[in-house]
Amino acid sequence: MALKQHRNEKKYHDPLHMKDKKPFSFSRRQFIDTAVKVSAVGGLAYIQMSGCGSEENEIAPPPENKHVFLSKPYLHTLEHQHMCIRWLTNKQSLSWVEYGETNDLNKKAIQIEDGLVTTHQRIHEIYLRDLEPGKTYYYRVASKEITAYRSLETPYGETIYSSTYSFTTADPAATETGLLVLNDLHDRPESFAQLLQLNGNDPYDFVFLNGDMFNYQSGEEQILEHLLTPCTNLFATQKPLLFVRGNHETRGNFAQHLKDYFAYPQGLFFHFQRGPVFAIVLDTGEDKADDHPAYAGMANFNAYRQQQAVWLEQLMKTEAYKNATYKVVFMHIPPFYCNQPVAPGEMHCNELFAPLFNQYKVDLVISGHTHKYGVHPPVSGKHNYPIIIGGGPDNGTRTLMKIKANSKTLTVQMINDENKPAGSYTLNAS
Ligand SMILES: [Fe+2]
Repeated sequence: MALKQHRNEKKYHDPLHMKDKKPFSFSRRQFIDTAVKVSAVGGLAYIQMSGCGSEENEIAPPPENKHVFLSKPYLHTLEHQHMCIRWLTNKQSLSWVEYGETNDLNKKAIQIEDGLVTTHQRIHEIYLRDLEPGKTYYYRVASKEITAYRSLETPYGETIYSSTYSFTTADPAATETGLLVLNDLHDRPESFAQLLQLNGNDPYDFVFLNGDMFNYQSGEEQILEHLLTPCTNLFATQKPLLFVRGNHETRGNFAQHLKDYFAYPQGLFFHFQRGPVFAIVLDTGEDKADDHPAYAGMANFNAYRQQQAVWLEQLMKTEAYKNATYKVVFMHIPPFYCNQPVAPGEMHCNELFAPLFNQYKVDLVISGHTHKYGVHPPVSGKHNYPIIIGGGPDNGTRTLMKIKANSKTLTVQMINDENKPAGSYTLNAS
């Protein structure tokens, strides 16, 4: 019981940000679903697959050296013919995915690099390749513990299996898509369920997290408890989860490890096409100047943003971009409407990206960061496209964005956490 009490009092706060200085505490019970129980092992959460342990089992430490999943599997790409599946275990293991078009799961995928099956991992990433577009697949993940590495013999431990889940690959011929956008939750894992339930039963294809899901990166336990556990309980075993960093994800001693859990195949900034939407995702970096004393000489986001601006302009010259029905940019820091006084990193986003958005006729920008939700219609000569900013993180300021696009219109509906309309915008197809 003492262990549970300690963990429930865990607090994360950001020393750089006055508005986040109030420590946040949460109850893990708020996001434990009925099928999966979370307990503690070695300072990490772990998951008991099936069996639905009692409250006593939930708080009891697991047997010594037990091999367990730390997360359910989560889907992490929107590609038409491939699917990236990630999950975490507490032990290094040989891992694979069993999958197929039925519950028989008659195929098996493993990761091979330089002739060797990838085994030295706890964070597992397996690609299912050569899938058929627009088809439903069933899968489960498996991890076989490696108890020691030897030159001629490798002893194995326990093999563990997840439940069976399903997903449907994207269809490149699809003329419509729907997605949900969350931003600025700032280490409030209960917000995932509270905001996503505002969607009701409306169908959607994937969820996009537009930055500042955390206050600053403190370790794997935070990633599990504050993002992967709620997301996999709610949707990410069956619908892809995409994530771009906000300024807060660049902070903390675990910041450089974040990409081990969330990097898209193209990297931390990327593009994707889904239905009629061509989306560009920018990693806008820190808001303060690179030489701010708080960064202690360890930030170089000006160069990183300039690298993205070069990439962005090249991308905007492609036929895929030019021919897209809707050209949508996701970026945590908005190109305009940052809070006053505008910080150097925010100004740099404006100076670098805003002219390109006008020149190459972006249709829509989706942002967060300001903690003030709002719809900003086009202002001719300034930004010839609407900018929609999601809110958060406190109760009464949080939002869910619902984006739906078809061959005729793209609509954005923003709902606040009291289930009231918080702004909307409709684009007509170009
Ligand atoms: Fe934020």
